[in-house]
Amino acid sequence: MSDKPKILVTRRHLAATEDRLTADYDATLNTDDHIMEADEIVAAADDMDALLICVTEPMDAATIERLPDSVRTVLTLSVGLDHIDTGAAKARGIAVLNTPDAVTNPTAEVGMLLLLGAARRAAEGAAMMRAGEWTSWSPRQMIGKEITGSELGIFGMGRIGQTVAARARAFDMTIRYHNRTRLSFEQEKSASYYTSVEGLLPSSPFLMICAPSTPETQGFLNAERIALLPDGAIVVNIARGELIDDDALVDALRSGKVAAAGLDVFNGEPNDIHPAYLELPNVFMTPHIGSGAERSRAAMGDMLLDGLDLLLAGELVPNRVV
Ligand code: DGY
Repeated sequence: MSDKPKILVTRRHLAATEDRLTADYDATLNTDDHIMEADEIVAAADDMDALLICVTEPMDAATIERLPDSVRTVLTLSVGLDHIDTGAAKARGIAVLNTPDAVTNPTAEVGMLLLLGAARRAAEGAAMMRAGEWTSWSPRQMIGKEITGSELGIFGMGRIGQTVAARARAFDMTIRYHNRTRLSFEQEKSASYYTSVEGLLPSSPFLMICAPSTPETQGFLNAERIALLPDGAIVVNIARGELIDDDALVDALRSGKVAAAGLDVFNGEPNDIHPAYLELPNVFMTPHIGSGAERSRAAMGDMLLDGLDLLLAGELVPNRVV
C-alpha cells in the first residue's frame, strides 16, 4: 500500500501536471475525462486526502457535506471560486486552494483578443472569407472601431483587470474603472476611479468585465445598465457568464446599441448558451479559454500541487482560500 497522499483528479490535465500527480501522489485519474457528477465524485472520494477539481465540478454545500471525512483539501484549477461553497468547506475544515496569478496574463491576453476581435469584426471577416464571399476590397467593407486612443471602462480591477489596463495602455487607451475598493495610487497608474458602475458606463465606449461572479455582481450588465453605455459600445466578458443578462445583451446587439461583444464565458456553458450568440454576426466568441495557454496551465497545476505539499508539511499556503 502506498503511503503517498491520495488524490482524486476529476479531469485530464497537461502531461506535466499528470506526470507530477502520478510520481508524487497516489493519484486516481479520470482517464476518459468524462464530467463526473456529484454522486460519482462523492463515491470516488472515499479514502482520498484531496480532490483536484475544475470549474466543471460544482462543489455546493450539499456535495461538500457528503464528502468523506478523509478529504481535507480541495484544489481547484481556477482562480474563480463561484463553483465552490467555500463557507461550507470551511465549516467542515476542508482547505480550498486556487490559482491566482497563474491565470492573470493569459486571461488578460484573451481580453485583448476579444476586444480587438469584437471591435474589428474578426468573426464576420473570417466567416465571410470561409464562405467564399470576399469578392473585392471595398472602402466600405468591414468597417470596425479602432481601440487606439479610446476609453476603456473596466468593471473589476483585481489582478486581471489591472493587467488588462496595462496591455490596453500600449494601445494608448484611457483607463476608467469601477471596483469594490479604490486601488492605491501606484496600482491605479492614472486610471480614473468611478465610485459607481452607473458613473463608469456612460464613459465606456469599450467595456471589459473582469470582476468575479458573486451575488453582488451577478446580472450586473442588465438592460438598465446597457442603456447607460454610449451608443455602439463594445462589450467584452472574460469573467463569468453570470455577470451578463443575456436577453438584454442580445437585444442590444440586435439594435446596435452594443455594436459588438467579445465573449469568453457564458451562462449555461458549454451546452446551454443563449442561442442568439451562436447566430449574431457581431459576437466574437471563444470557449472559456482565458487561462488556456501552455505555460500558464502548467503553472496552475504546479501552484496547486506546491500548495498541497506545503499544506501537508504543515506550512502556510499562499494560495489557500479557506
Ligand atoms: C479561472 O481560473 O477561474 C478560469 O475561468 C478557468 O477556470
